[in-house]
Order: sequence, then structure tokens, then C-alpha cells
Amino acid sequence: MAAASIRDVARLAGVSVGTVSNFLNKPTEVSPVSGALVKNAIAELGYIRNDAARRLRAGTSATVGFVVLDGQNPFFNQVVRGAEDEGSTQGIAIIVGNTDEDSSREGLYLDLFEEQRVRGVLISPYGDITARLQLLRSRDIPAVLVDRVNVDGQFSSVAVDSGAGGQIAAQHLIDTGRRRLAFVGGPLDLHQVRDRLEGARVAVDNCEHPVELEVIATSALSVEEGVKAGHRILERPRRERPDALFAANDLLALGLLQSLIVDGSLLVPEQIALIGFDDIAFAAAAAVPLSSIRQPSAMIGQTALRVLLEEAENPSMIPRQTVFRPELVVRESTKVAGSRTR
Ligand code: RIB
Repeated sequence: MAAASIRDVARLAGVSVGTVSNFLNKPTEVSPVSGALVKNAIAELGYIRNDAARRLRAGTSATVGFVVLDGQNPFFNQVVRGAEDEGSTQGIAIIVGNTDEDSSREGLYLDLFEEQRVRGVLISPYGDITARLQLLRSRDIPAVLVDRVNVDGQFSSVAVDSGAGGQIAAQHLIDTGRRRLAFVGGPLDLHQVRDRLEGARVAVDNCEHPVELEVIATSALSVEEGVKAGHRILERPRRERPDALFAANDLLALGLLQSLIVDGSLLVPEQIALIGFDDIAFAAAAAVPLSSIRQPSAMIGQTALRVLLEEAENPSMIPRQTVFRPELVVRESTKVAGSRTR
């Protein structure tokens, strides 16, 4: 039976729609007799006063919760935008929660989205949230992992191949003649960071020339941490400095670039090359245009929402892993002296 409307209530109570609306929103403007008629009609019809609640009762919420790792990172803004663009074609709104790489906040948002009975949850996780997502699914709220390949296959996931991206980045630095590489990133237990470092190691191990790869760990993937890492490099004696930096994402790379440019003693790319990951809009606009590993961020968001909505319609669907191939974008920050950057 279709959910009762405000007109059904008015008809049953024998009053106008306006009287029912006043009863719901401005009850003091309704006479006690009319109020009693409306109240009885609402109870008899099980009328729910707004669309969200009505959809809630029908189990077809028009909202999806999206838990992102870092709301300040333009990469995630692009991913969310892709999900929003897809959602707008299907009458779905996206509610975003930002965890700031703090796993304790993941639970808060997942609880909130469950209370709101959202249609489903997209999440770029920090830690291992499999058990929490299984609980959600047992309560008919599907989840799709974003920016994380779900290796055990329990949930669908949509992400870039971070390992391939790390290998491409390191190979590019090697191909441009660099031999003392440093990977800058962290926390190292974050899947994206771990996989990018592993990819860089593959390129270094496969190289016929001797190539060094050191790790400069950071506590977050932020501009601030990139600036700090740059200062640590500049404090070293010249002969102990790397000749190339692979930053785990563009925000770190921009922080590194800022510290190197301000100091001025280590020129990018003449004395040290720099490559990031994501290819956010600021990469091309940097003081030294930044080479980066592009991931299809909007497509990731669009695909993730599409998969989620399909699973909401068909809970018995087998989880699938969608992995996008990263792309090398070469700009000034890795140019070799005398070469032309495409
Ligand atoms: O925030 C974590 C990083 O992982 C982002 O910069 C993006 O690269 C994601 O994949």
C-alpha cells in the first residue's frame, strides 16, 4: 500500500490540506476540534510528515554516506564530486564525513549513517573496518570501499592501482637519470602509502644500474608534513641529499617544493627531481609545475556510487574490485636539463 499523503489525511479528517499543514507546522493556528480530527487521521493512516522519513519507511533512502580520509585533500573533493554527479542522475544526495586520517572518527560517521538509514556507505578507510561494514550490511546497508582495493573480496572496492603508480613514478625518475631516490610519505601502514612504496621498490630492484631508495616517513599526507620533510633533507650535508623525491601524494610534494624553493639551495629539477601522486589541479599550477601520477578521481567516485546503488538494489551481488590504471603526467619538476617536457 502506498504511503499516505497529506491529502489523504485531509480527506479522512474532512479538513483542508492547509489545516493539516498548519497542524504539523503551526498547531496553535488550528482549532482543538480540527486538531483532533487531523491527529486521528494521521494515526489511522500512519502518515509520516516528510519525504525523507517516508522513504526511510519504504527502505529507499535518497542519501548515501561518504566517509573520506582527508576532507582538505582536493583528490577526495574530486572523488566526491564524481559521486555527486552520478547521484544527481539518480535522485541521490551524498553526505560527506571527514575522518582526517583518524580511525576513531570512522566509527562515529558509520554510526551516524546507520542511524540515518542511508541507502549505503562509501568509505575511504584508514584502518581495518571489515567487521563494522559487515555489521552494517547485516542491517541492510551496503558499503563500497573507495581508494582501497579490498584484497579479501568481502566488499566491493574502487581504487587506482597504487603499486603500479609507485612503480611508474620511480621508473620515470630512473629514466631521467636519477640514482639517489627518496620516497616521502606516511603513515606507512596506510594502504595507499605502503603500495606506492612497494611499487617504487619494484622499479628500483628491476633496474640494471645501482639505484638507492630511502624512505623519509611522514606522520600524514599533508602539505605541512611535506614542508617538514623538505627541511630535514636540507639539513643534510649536500652529498647526503637525494637527487629525486617521490612523494606519496601531491600535497606532500607541494610542501616539499615550498620548502626547497624558499631555501633556494637545492634547485628543482636541476639538482633534485620531484614527483607526486594524484595530479590534483594545484600540481600543474605549482611554482615549478609538478610531475605526478594521475588517478581518475572523479571516475572513481562515479563508479563507486554506481556499484553501491546496484548492490543496494541487489544485496546478493558478488563483491567486485574495480582497479583503475594510473597515468604518468610529466611536467617541469622532473625535467632533465636541456630536455623539452611534453
Ligand atoms: O589521502 C590519501 C591519498 O590516497 C590521497 O592523496 C590519494 O592519493 C589517495 O589515493
